[in-house]
Amino acid sequence: MAVDNWMHVEFSNVTKVYSEPPQTVTALNNISFQIHEGEFVCIVGPSGCGKSTLLRMIAGLDRPSSGEIRFKGDLLTAPHPKISMVFQTFALLPWRTVLDNVAFGLEVQNVPKRERENTARELLGMVGLKDSEKLYPKQLSGGMKQRVGIARALAIDPEVVLMDEAFSAIDEFTAEALREEVAEIHAETQKTFLLVTHNLPEAIELADRILVLSARPARVKSIVPIELLRPRSPTASDFVSIHKDIFSLLQSELEASIMRHRLSGLKEFQGLRDMEDR
Ligand SMILES: Nc1ncnc2c1ncn2[C@@H]1O[C@H](COP(=O)(O)OP(=O)(O)OP(=O)(O)O)[C@@H](O)[C@H]1O
Ligand SMILES: [Mg+2]
Repeated sequence: MAVDNWMHVEFSNVTKVYSEPPQTVTALNNISFQIHEGEFVCIVGPSGCGKSTLLRMIAGLDRPSSGEIRFKGDLLTAPHPKISMVFQTFALLPWRTVLDNVAFGLEVQNVPKRERENTARELLGMVGLKDSEKLYPKQLSGGMKQRVGIARALAIDPEVVLMDEAFSAIDEFTAEALREEVAEIHAETQKTFLLVTHNLPEAIELADRILVLSARPARVKSIVPIELLRPRSPTASDFVSIHKDIFSLLQSELEASIMRHRLSGLKEFQGLRDMEDR
């Protein structure tokens, strides 16, 4: 049931266990956090800790094993028409033109052709692809593909935009231009953005808050507010000092996870020796 003082997105004690014999993997361990409407939240954490799992669950592509995820107070159990996703590898439909890729979500929602094409054109203009609407994905550079991915995600006029490493498969120069565009879109539209990234400067450049996750199974290690004025310069001393702080949080996580790994190896080794001694 929606209530008046809802958070935009809310995780309460979310745990995710993948049980695919022969192995059981706990990806998320009792995660709770709240995101306000219009916030830009970046999620960082060691590789394989469960970041994509977390995002996929907000997209309704996966379900928690226990705990609850709510959008505006309502339980999220399936893809929601006001939540959309931008993928690392673009995930464009190769047989559709740029225009038809951007209009796809509206087509699914049965929006009339003329109306959905007008919306798609407007968004293509916004991401600098006005003259590319008739091209097919194979005719585009990586940066252009991701512009289409962003336009497609925005076409359904979402309230929440999820981005999983959206800038990591494109060259750094283009990635920086795209980050700036996304920052502008966020400032203009005040939509809620959640970006998973391995790139700490990228997170500090964009985020209102950074959610730092522990090594798998992911727990919330820290939530760091970034109060620097925008646009943010990575060479400014306060930027550098935030980078240093979060980097050391991540580094200690990595060391702890290597240690856990070694200890479990040691236990297995001890187990084998015990068996041998018997
Ligand atoms: N569909 C699945 N079935 C089984 N295990 C899965 C599935 N999806 C993810 N996992 C496991 O859950 C853990 C977390 O995976 P996830 O992709 O969420 O991590 P990540 O933080 O996004 O990693 P990376 O930083 O490398 O992108 C991994 O151990 C992974 O093997
Ligand atoms: Mg991932």
